[in-house]
Amino acid sequence: MSFMQKYNFLIRKIHSLTGIIPIGVFLTEHLITNSFALGGAEYYNERVEAFQQLPFLVGIEIVFIAIPLAFHTLLGLYYVYLAKNNVLEYKYFRNYMFYLQRITAIITFVFVVYHSYTTRIGRAMAGIEISYEFMNNIVSQPVFFIIYLIGMLAAVFHFSNGIYTFAISWGIAIGPQVQRKFQTICTVLFIALTAIGTAGLIALAA
Ligand code: HEM
Repeated sequence: MSFMQKYNFLIRKIHSLTGIIPIGVFLTEHLITNSFALGGAEYYNERVEAFQQLPFLVGIEIVFIAIPLAFHTLLGLYYVYLAKNNVLEYKYFRNYMFYLQRITAIITFVFVVYHSYTTRIGRAMAGIEISYEFMNNIVSQPVFFIIYLIGMLAAVFHFSNGIYTFAISWGIAIGPQVQRKFQTICTVLFIALTAIGTAGLIALAA
């Protein structure tokens, strides 16, 4: 028996959990921080600067974002590869959602690689500070605005729907009644995060 077979149950549970803590928590924080652009360029720059002065920022980013995200992504790509592609032959709502969870995983993957390289890794190497002006230069161009909008929507959908599948796989949502409640929670979260993310993006592009 291979390592993956032997620990399959545990590894799936950890993969599921990392999608919420810390990655989903970070995604939520990130969209809220960006929505500070609604308060104007100066306010946004103040908030971002305060963030950048956090002690041990790079360490925190590596331990709580980069490593869990790399783990979730690499394993996630493997799960996408394993998934049977006949789900759409059975036209059930949950089958569509299963399919969309995998489509949005791929879109999020491509976007996160592009986005973290252009705004964090490359910038750190070039010694450029992030600011309203820096982001405005990018997202005020219609093509990049649309790329950001698609990337943000994919990540938000993947996270919101992921809360539902997480609750199932961790045995939290058992039975149709509780599952319907979780469905409502996920839908409300999807709408709220989409609103916050889109508002922030529009403010950064203005
Ligand atoms: C913003 C970044 C991301 C967040 C917040 C996130 C969050 C989540 C959450 C909460 C789940 C639900 C856990 C479960 O189904 O048990 C999940 C599942 C999944 N994620 Fe992600 N994820 C992100 C990025 C990615 C990326 C980049 C990939 C791979 C390309 C990926 C692949 C998957 C797959 C395949 C599943 C389903 C696992 C299963 O059904 O067993 N995710 N994600």
